[in-house]
Amino acid sequence: MYLTDEEKAMLAGEYGAGTALAMKIQVAVGECFDAPRMVEISKAHVALSNQEADLWFVEKLLKAGARCRIAPTVNPGFHLEFCREHLSISTEDGELMERTRKAYQEIGAILTFSCTPYLEANVPRFGEIISYSETSATAYVNSVIGARTNRESVQSSLCAAITGRVPEYGYLLEENRTGNILVQVEADIKNDFDYQLLGYCAKKIGYGVPVFVGLPAHPSQEALMNLGAQLNTIGAYAIYHVVGVTPEAQTIEDAFGGKDPARTVVITNEDLAEVHQNISHPEGKIAFAMFGCPHFTINQVREIAQMVHGKKLAAEMWILTSSLTKELADRMGLTETIENSGGHILDNTCIDQPCWHHLEGKVGVTDSPKCAYYTKRRGLEFIIRDLRSCVDAALKGEVS
Ligand code: F3S
Repeated sequence: MYLTDEEKAMLAGEYGAGTALAMKIQVAVGECFDAPRMVEISKAHVALSNQEADLWFVEKLLKAGARCRIAPTVNPGFHLEFCREHLSISTEDGELMERTRKAYQEIGAILTFSCTPYLEANVPRFGEIISYSETSATAYVNSVIGARTNRESVQSSLCAAITGRVPEYGYLLEENRTGNILVQVEADIKNDFDYQLLGYCAKKIGYGVPVFVGLPAHPSQEALMNLGAQLNTIGAYAIYHVVGVTPEAQTIEDAFGGKDPARTVVITNEDLAEVHQNISHPEGKIAFAMFGCPHFTINQVREIAQMVHGKKLAAEMWILTSSLTKELADRMGLTETIENSGGHILDNTCIDQPCWHHLEGKVGVTDSPKCAYYTKRRGLEFIIRDLRSCVDAALKGEVS
């Protein structure tokens, strides 16, 4: 693998042992994928998960003197101060979160604690070479923006932030970004929620780069977030195309790079109904509603506020979002409306964290299959419905 003089110096330890370790890992990854060289990145996002292994890795790099050349944004853990005061977290979990915050601050991250960096704070441009981990983020930046990243891990994106480089392979290269599966959507796609179910049809779509046709001409930002988040949760899809919508698929020829698709898959209403049936707990009483996996946009927060305005919730409601969106919600009076109904907007927090002990063994409602998937191991069960039905259920205390 060709390395520039500066990259060789990094590997040789001239920039410190931490940078050398990060470069050593990246060279090993590059060699695995036959990357011919390293390329510079201009943005990074690290899906910090506030778990022992991630923390061990960042602290190891830190002790070896590593600092980020490219300040990465980071994923949420949980809002330490809020959770200590209002939820039950163990001393160990609280300390883990404290150490995580400290380690990422010291290594030079931008502490956004949000899983939607592509909406605010770290938005790449078309064609930009970047290094992003986080399932919804990699799919969104590649597909909807046209920036270029591989489906990085927490560790590889942190190494990239330290060295400012990534090995050149995979989705950084034009030839791997073009589609090879034609997905003909015959199902009626009526709202943003249907994109969640469509993304969850990954098993039928199969491995590759899907190119969707038959979708509405003007999907919302949230619809495209949903599609990528679910595709990349239940499968491993760092990129997808929607013909006429996403930037590398203005025509079907562009989307396939002039080649024929390797196969064609048809998605029908029955497919969506089957997926929905398989992933959702049966309808009935609910104890809580959980939103914001990925973190909710201001439009989604506003939709909920309009629905609960002047009413009282019959079930707990949690809306997770970035602190920048929460600030907007505060300023727009949406937080007050939601809190008056008995709900909460919580920033810096992920659904897959140890701060949700009080919901263990209970059934909730969510609009996100990803939320239901990740929290199963924590003992949470979810009925999955579209956003408006979820809010309706939270007002009534049941899904009927
Ligand atoms: Fe975000 Fe956590 Fe879901 S990082 S996408 S809330 S699993």
